[in-house]
Amino acid sequence: MPERERDERFHLNLEDIKDYAIFRVDTEGRIASWNAGAERIKGYKAEEVIGQPFAMLFTQEDRQAGKPEFEMRQAMEKGVYQGEGIRVRKGGVPFDAEVTLRALSDKGGVHRGFVKITRDISARKRVEDELSKRAEFEQQLIGIVSHDLRTPLSAISLATALLLRSQDLGMHHVATLGRILSSAERAQRLIASLLDFTQARVGGGFVLQYAPVDLRDFAGLVVEEMRVAYPEREIQFEFVGDVQGEWDPDRLAQLLTNLLNNALLHGLEDAPVRLSVHDGPHSVVIAVHNRGTPIPPDMMPRLFEPMKRGAGAGRSTKTQGLGLGLYIVQQIVLAHGGTVGVDSSEAQGTTFTVRLPHHPPPPRK
Ligand SMILES: Nc1ncnc2c1ncn2[C@@H]1O[C@H](COP(=O)(O)OP(=O)(O)O)[C@@H](O)[C@H]1O
Ligand SMILES: [Mg+2]
Repeated sequence: MPERERDERFHLNLEDIKDYAIFRVDTEGRIASWNAGAERIKGYKAEEVIGQPFAMLFTQEDRQAGKPEFEMRQAMEKGVYQGEGIRVRKGGVPFDAEVTLRALSDKGGVHRGFVKITRDISARKRVEDELSKRAEFEQQLIGIVSHDLRTPLSAISLATALLLRSQDLGMHHVATLGRILSSAERAQRLIASLLDFTQARVGGGFVLQYAPVDLRDFAGLVVEEMRVAYPEREIQFEFVGDVQGEWDPDRLAQLLTNLLNNALLHGLEDAPVRLSVHDGPHSVVIAVHNRGTPIPPDMMPRLFEPMKRGAGAGRSTKTQGLGLGLYIVQQIVLAHGGTVGVDSSEAQGTTFTVRLPHHPPPPRK
C-alpha cells in the first residue's frame, strides 16, 4: 500500500473515533490536528483550535502551575505522559479527563511534536464518588447503631443476671432467664465485632495499646477460659520456648479467642483442637489446628474479607456469626506488623498460623 493511502486510512480511522479526543500538538505546544472525538468532547470545531496553544484546554489553575509544559517535558523525557485531571470544554465547563501525551519522532529520531489522547471519564468518576460516599455512610451508620445498642443490651444482661440470683425461682424460670442472658450476650458479642469492623474500616485500623506480655501464661489463661466455655471439648495447648514480647493484650486475647472459636465451631466436633505457640528468631508463631471438612479452595482467596462465611456456617445457632472473625484477626495481626495464613486439607485438617514480631514495628512515615 502506498504511504499516502495508508496515511489517509489512518486519518479516516481517527475521524471515526468519537469517545476519544485524538489530536496532534506541535513541538511548540500548538494544536496541529483535531478529530471528531475531540470536537465532541471539547466542543470546539477544528478551525477554532488549530494553531492555538493546547494549554487552552487546561484549567486556568493548571495553566498557571505550568501543567501543559510539565506534560510536554515528561513526554519528551520518558516518551509518554499519562495521568488524570480536570480539563475544560468550550464555554469553560470542567470535566474529568484521562490523558495520554505521547512524543512523536521521525525515522531519523528528530522530535516531531506529540499526539494527545483524552477521554472524558466524568461519568465513571461520578459513579465512583457515589459508591464511596454510600459505603462511608453505611459504615458510619453501622458504627452509630451498634454503639447505641450496647447500652440497652448491657442493661438486659445485668438485670437478667440479677434476677438469676433470686432464691425463689422455679427451674422453668431459671432456664428462661438463662436463655435471655445468653442471647443478650451473643448480641453484645456481635455488636462488639461490628464496632471493631467499623473502627478498622472507617477509623483507619486498630490503635494498639502495647504492654509487656508473657505469652505462655497469657495463652494459658485464654485456653482455660475456652475450656470453661466448651466443657465437652478437648483443647490442647503446646508451648516451645519462653516467649516474652510487647503486644496489645486485649487484642491478643481477641485474636486467640476468634481462632479457637472458629476451630471449635467449624471443625470436627469429636476431635481435639490444638493451640501451639513457639518462639522464632524474629517473631512468635501461633498455630491453631482442627480437623474436619477443609475450607473450600474457592473460598480461600477471600477468607479474610468481612462478611465471608462458609456454606456450613450457621448450621446451628451456635455457629451463627457475621463472618467478621477472620477479618478482625487479620486486622489485629496487621496492626502488630505480623502475618496470618491458613492451610486446609482433608488429610491435614485446618491450621491458621499467625506470626507476630516480638516488638512494635517502627512508626510509619
Ligand atoms: N478452623 C476452621 N475450619 C473450617 N472452616 C473455617 C475455620 N475457620 C473459619 N472457617 C470458615 O471461614 C468462614 C469465615 O470465618 P469467620 O470470619 O470467623 O466468620 P464466622 O465464624 O462468623 O462465620 C467461616 O464461616 C467458615 O466457613
Ligand atoms: Mg468466626
